Amino acid sequence: MRVLAIETSCDETAAAVVECGDSLEFKTLSNVVASQVDLHAQFGGVVPEVAARSHLEVILPVIEQSIAKANIGWGAIDGIAVTCGPGLLAALLMGVNTARALAITKDKPLVGVDHVHAHVYAAWLDNTKPRQPRFPALALIVSGGHTQLVLFNDHLDYQLLGQTQDDAVGEAFDKVAKMMGLGFPGGPALSAAAKNGDSSIYKFPTPKLDGKYDFSFSGLKTAVLRHLQRLGKKDYNFPSHKLAPFLTPRQISDTAAAFQASAVKILVDKTALAVEEFNPSSIICAGGVAANHLLRDTLKAKFGQKVLYPPLELCTDNAAMVAALGCIKLRNKELADPLKLESQPSLSM
Ligand code: KG4
Ligand code: ZN
Repeated sequence: MRVLAIETSCDETAAAVVECGDSLEFKTLSNVVASQVDLHAQFGGVVPEVAARSHLEVILPVIEQSIAKANIGWGAIDGIAVTCGPGLLAALLMGVNTARALAITKDKPLVGVDHVHAHVYAAWLDNTKPRQPRFPALALIVSGGHTQLVLFNDHLDYQLLGQTQDDAVGEAFDKVAKMMGLGFPGGPALSAAAKNGDSSIYKFPTPKLDGKYDFSFSGLKTAVLRHLQRLGKKDYNFPSHKLAPFLTPRQISDTAAAFQASAVKILVDKTALAVEEFNPSSIICAGGVAANHLLRDTLKAKFGQKVLYPPLELCTDNAAMVAALGCIKLRNKELADPLKLESQPSLSM
């Protein structure tokens, strides 16, 4: 079975073709991502209207390219999968409406896919080596919009164990990076700055929460802000985006290292609790923040061979992961009506 997938939930316009065999082994035939990072960098964050307009401009060429790169024609495509949520409404609409129109005009079955759920399927995709996570699988999903622990008993059978009660971990990386003038997107910039830093110079608090598997990152983010205001000799009313010129490169790299160490500790400690309780056969770390080397290395050191990550380029948003989950939903006949499939900005696992 070959599935064409479309992803436009945030600031990447993406299309991919993935082939899925009888025993659910996946092969990525093409994976095209047109990033809007440069467009949004000037605003220091994603502007929904700018994202939507850009999706509209490039979506058809991106889809055409994904089919050409897969070296197949429309006749060889068995279905279309599209991210229908969660995400920015204006951005989602571009992908969903395109997928609906293509499903009708090309007469293909259509499935709507949850973006956060799809992130986990990037762990099944690696053309260089076979990857078959085993069930029960514990997924730590860490992105710019979500931070959650999910226990999968089987492909479409899962239980949400806990999630962030405020900011997502990627959002915290982005905001802390912005305070230190490290640019957008903040996660990769912050982890690059942390490489030159000493994580033991500053200490930040870890949250206490009622939910055993819930997360919180807003307290950590505020603690870093107060700490930077102190380092910059400013009071707590001083705007976060004006702090950077008052900080030394040493202070920035040490703060980046200490923040990253705290964020990773929060994620790994909660994962360890779930591993202890559920004894999963595989532990999957997925989503944009799964590209973070400290997180990857710490999980690997603690849980060894059970830990699986997507290849780096499949951690952040892409359509190959949407195609993989789409294949499974298509096989399970979880079809959407192309006249009715809606964009759902607040869709939740
Ligand atoms: O999954 P994703 O591409 O988009 C969402 O679904 O949100 O995740 C984007 C997030 C951003 O917050 C970005 O800063 C973060 O992933 N990120 C990282 C790294 N690479 C991307 N965070 C920490 N370290 C990284 N290396
Ligand atoms: Zn994502």
